[in-house]
Amino acid sequence: MSNTQIQIFDTTLRDGEQVPGCKLNTPQKIIISKQLDLLGVDVIEAGFPVSSPGDFKSVEEISKIVQNATVCGLTRSVENDIKVAAEALKYAKKPRIHTGIGTSDSHIIHKFKSNKDAIIERAARAVSYAKSFVEDVEFYAEDAGRTDNEYLARVCEAVIKSGATVLNIPDTTGYCLPHEYGAKIKYLKENVKGIDKAIISCHCHNDLGLATANSIEGIINGARQIECTINGIGERAGNTALEEVVMIMKQHPYLNLDTNINTEMLYGISQLVSESMGIYTQPNKAIVGANAFAHSSGIHQDGVIKNRETYEIIDPKDVGVTESAIVLTARSGRAALAYRAKNVGYELTKLELDTVYAEFLNFADTKKEVIDSDIHEIIETSKIYK
Ligand code: KIV
Ligand code: ZN
Repeated sequence: MSNTQIQIFDTTLRDGEQVPGCKLNTPQKIIISKQLDLLGVDVIEAGFPVSSPGDFKSVEEISKIVQNATVCGLTRSVENDIKVAAEALKYAKKPRIHTGIGTSDSHIIHKFKSNKDAIIERAARAVSYAKSFVEDVEFYAEDAGRTDNEYLARVCEAVIKSGATVLNIPDTTGYCLPHEYGAKIKYLKENVKGIDKAIISCHCHNDLGLATANSIEGIINGARQIECTINGIGERAGNTALEEVVMIMKQHPYLNLDTNINTEMLYGISQLVSESMGIYTQPNKAIVGANAFAHSSGIHQDGVIKNRETYEIIDPKDVGVTESAIVLTARSGRAALAYRAKNVGYELTKLELDTVYAEFLNFADTKKEVIDSDIHEIIETSKIYK
């Protein structure tokens, strides 16, 4: 892997599926996995095999059909979890076990009623055990966002010694600010002995709306994997949105960071995940929302009709959207009306347009959006035909 290449670890089927009411069955997960594999993600986190027989079955079936991506199963630092995950992954061409434990004071004291040294020992033991089944072992330090950096570095050092190939530094509660998360990654790069033997992964939650910004800060500071989900779905306010981090790297080439993602599939896979889970994507969602390439104010429409780049930084075709939408509302101008009228077959002269535009405005005031059939009606009943 070149140093400019960022691995995309998709956890739509694990962290994403933790959204209440969004449970998928195995056939649905297989369809999504096939699309993720074609999309070019490097890792598919297929589930948490010990959590239920259904999840075990899904991980096993996904392992059989994925052709290119690594297939990953989540575990706690518990022997039985790891053994069950290894069993579920046995058909995978490239299996990965993702094991870990909470490392913040809050997790150590309240959740585990333990101490820092004992947690390090348990983490190292879990990684060694996972390593007895598969070569590729990722370790997560749950709540790393609120773990002090010095202790986190000790944990990382211990699990690298036990053979961890990837170090996941989750901001589990979405608490960090971008500069703090970036500094955490930099600190680990500079202070963990043996860090060159592993890659650092960002896993950011969106409780404060900072998941994407934090992940980008993470890779700018040396992380080489981002954990994310389609449409940013996930626990509470969700995870980092795959489509956002991928397009940020593509639109900012000077960052010199690249992914294997076939971006033209982004819109289609967003729709697939949203429909399969029955979870509606907000219209103003970056990259894949219904309004991401829609223009409705007169000034913007005039600019986009003259040159798309005036108000769009992404070519919609690059993410699988056929074209920008010029939405007709009472805020639209003559240029937008002439453009949409031409699309449905009317080439209006300047004089005709002036007349039709006045009639259009009266009509538009009565409706949220003027659609193609309305355009026909407005023009056909207009004074220009009388
Ligand atoms: O947010 C988190 O800490 C997680 C881990 C289980 C990786 O999802
Ligand atoms: Zn998570």
